Amino acid sequence: MFEYLSAINHVFEIAFYVLLFILFYASLKKCFLQDGQSKGKLFFQSLITNPIILFFSMCFVAVLIVYVGLALRLHDFTKVDSNSLINDTLTSSVILLITYILFIFITIPISYLVGKSLKAHNKSLVTFVYLMFSVIVTVYSDRSSILSADTGWPFSTLANISSIINVACLLLLYFFIMKALARLSDKKRDINWKLFLIPPIAFLLLYGVFDFYTLTFCSTDANAVVQILSFVIQVLFIWAFYVIIKNIKATGDAQESKEEVKTLSVEVMEALAHTIDAKDEYTRGHSVRVAKYSRMLAQRLGLSREDCENVYYMALLHDIGKIGVPNEIINNPSKLTDEQYDVIKTHPGLGYDILAEIKSRPDLVVGARWHHERYDGKGYPDGKIGEDIPFFARIIAVADSYDAMTSNRSYRKYMSQDKVRSEIEKNAGTQFDPKVAQVMLTLIDEDKEYTMHE
Ligand SMILES: [Fe+2]
Repeated sequence: MFEYLSAINHVFEIAFYVLLFILFYASLKKCFLQDGQSKGKLFFQSLITNPIILFFSMCFVAVLIVYVGLALRLHDFTKVDSNSLINDTLTSSVILLITYILFIFITIPISYLVGKSLKAHNKSLVTFVYLMFSVIVTVYSDRSSILSADTGWPFSTLANISSIINVACLLLLYFFIMKALARLSDKKRDINWKLFLIPPIAFLLLYGVFDFYTLTFCSTDANAVVQILSFVIQVLFIWAFYVIIKNIKATGDAQESKEEVKTLSVEVMEALAHTIDAKDEYTRGHSVRVAKYSRMLAQRLGLSREDCENVYYMALLHDIGKIGVPNEIINNPSKLTDEQYDVIKTHPGLGYDILAEIKSRPDLVVGARWHHERYDGKGYPDGKIGEDIPFFARIIAVADSYDAMTSNRSYRKYMSQDKVRSEIEKNAGTQFDPKVAQVMLTLIDEDKEYTMHE
C-alpha cells in the first residue's frame, strides 16, 4: 500500500513541478507579452528565471557554502565520510536555512529584472506573479524537508526551528505579494481578496497535522497520511494558481478598458477643440497650440506628470464657450464695438457652464472660466487677483496670449520674437503671473530658431 502511494506521489511531484513551470510561463505570457515581443525570448527568460530552477540553484549554492564552512571548521574534514555529512540533519537544516535566506533575497531583485527586461508596464504585477510562484516553491520544498526530517534530539528541534523560520519567510513573502497587489489597480473590487488568504490559512492547517504525524510517529501509517496530505496540498495550490491567474487576467482587462476610455475621452476633447477652432477662421489650431504651450510651461514649472496632462486638457477646451458666441462677432475683421466686445466676454462663463456638465472631470472648468483673468485683477469674468486665480488658469493665460501674438491675423502677420518677448516681459506682474511669465521667457530664449509660432 505504502509503496504504491509513494510511487504515485513521486509521479505527482514531477507533474507538479512541470505544471508549476508551465503555469509560470503561461502567466507571464498572459500578463506581459506585448505586440512585437518574441515568445521564444519570453520562454527562455521564464526558464532561467523560474522560481523552481532558481530554488534548486540556491540549494546547490547553499550546499557549497555549508561544505566550505565545514571544511574550515573541521580540521579533520578529509577523514569524514562525505555521505554521512550530507545525511546529517544538522547539515541539511543549515543548508535549508541558507537556501531560504538566499532565495528570498534573490527573488526580489530578480523579479525586478524580469519586469525590466519584459518592458512590463506594471512592474508590481511582475513582482506579484514572481513572488506568488516563489511562495509555492518555498511551501512545497518545505513539505519535502519535513518528510525527511530526523526525529532524534537535538535535530528535531533544529528541524522545527528551520520550519518555523520557513513559515515566517512564507508569511513575509505573502506580505510582499499583498503589498504589490495593492498597487496593481485602483479598482480593488477587481480582485477577490479572500482568495489570497485561503492558500496560506489552508496550508498552515495542513502543515500542523502534517508536522504532528511526521515528527511524532514517523511510522509507515503516518507516512501514508503524509502522502495523502501532500496530494491535497498539490491540488490546493493548483486550484489557487487557477484563481490567481484568472484574477490577474481580470485586472489586466480592467486596466485595458480603462486605457480605452482614456483614449476615447482624449479624442473627444481634441475633436471638440477642433470644433471651437473651426468656428473662428482666424485662429485655426489655436486651442491645440495653447494646450501644448501650457503643458510645456507646466513641465518647466515642475508640476507632476498628471498635472501637466490636466493643464493640457484644460487648455485644449479653454475657449469652448466661443461656441455660444455668434459667428459674425467672432469672425468680424474690423474693430469690435463695445456691445460686441461684451458678447465676446461671455465666453469664459459659457465655457464654464458647458464643462460643468462633465461631472467626471470637475477640474476642466478652471481653464475655461479664468483664462482671461489678469494678475492685477483687471481681467474678466470674476476680476480675481494674483494667487486667487487658479494656478492652471494663470499658466493657460500666458500660453493663450503667447499664441495670440505668434499667430497670423487678417490684419497682420505673426509678431517678431523680440516683440513677443518684450510684451511678455512688460506684462509680467500686471497681466501675467511673474513666475509663469519668467518660464515663458526662458522658453522663448531657448527657441533660437523661433519655431514656436503658427
Ligand atoms: Fe479666450
